[in-house]
Amino acid sequence: MMISSLPSLVVLISGSGSNLQAIIEAVENRQIRAQICTVISNRADAGGLKRAQKAGIKTMVIEHTQYPSRETFDQALIAAIDKCQPVLVILAGFMRILTSGFIQHYADRLLNIHPSLLPRYKGLHTHQRALENGDRHHGASVHIVSSELDSGPLVIQAIVEVKTGDTAQQLAARVLEQEHQIYPLAIAMLIDGRLKINHNSVYFNNRQLHKPLLWHAGKLLEKA
Ligand code: GRF
Repeated sequence: MMISSLPSLVVLISGSGSNLQAIIEAVENRQIRAQICTVISNRADAGGLKRAQKAGIKTMVIEHTQYPSRETFDQALIAAIDKCQPVLVILAGFMRILTSGFIQHYADRLLNIHPSLLPRYKGLHTHQRALENGDRHHGASVHIVSSELDSGPLVIQAIVEVKTGDTAQQLAARVLEQEHQIYPLAIAMLIDGRLKINHNSVYFNNRQLHKPLLWHAGKLLEKA
């Protein structure tokens, strides 16, 4: 059931939607005081669509293959998203590069999660690259989306120890568990005002963050 007084979120996915699931659960248990207005996928076979439907959330498929250009695809996304008047647009495994027009349209409202300690390992295969580099720590980052791929001011990072003998899959699974904690937490804090975004800067308890919040072993390590 939609409770119209709650602020709206729109979630964009392309795949399994495990982060979407964590967000749905955080909305259901009221950690996040908002409603998910719609879930949009650019792929009809995205597993996350079923998760949304099971939770009674409206879904839409806008296939990028049906559009002649990135611009026309992004315009179709904007038209669908804006019907919800969302306070946040949440990229949760959305595997399309967005145009600067899209990003500017949602300035200070567009969030992404990336499976690395940004600015390390932008792009794909982050876990394998961290292992090959011999990193002792790896993790995930929630950030505001700016025009470059996997860039933009960092909000919160989860730190995960790399264990001797880890495979990329094992490491990925432990990072994903952390993603499911920090993404709902960041959204909850943006909704309740503990976190604010203004002109691409992040504020925590009304003080500007110059480094991301750090999450380790289930708690926040530092406060601004
Ligand atoms: C996650 O690893 C996320 O960090 C990245 O894409 C993956 C999405 O996984 N952006 P899921 O669809 O949420 O399970």
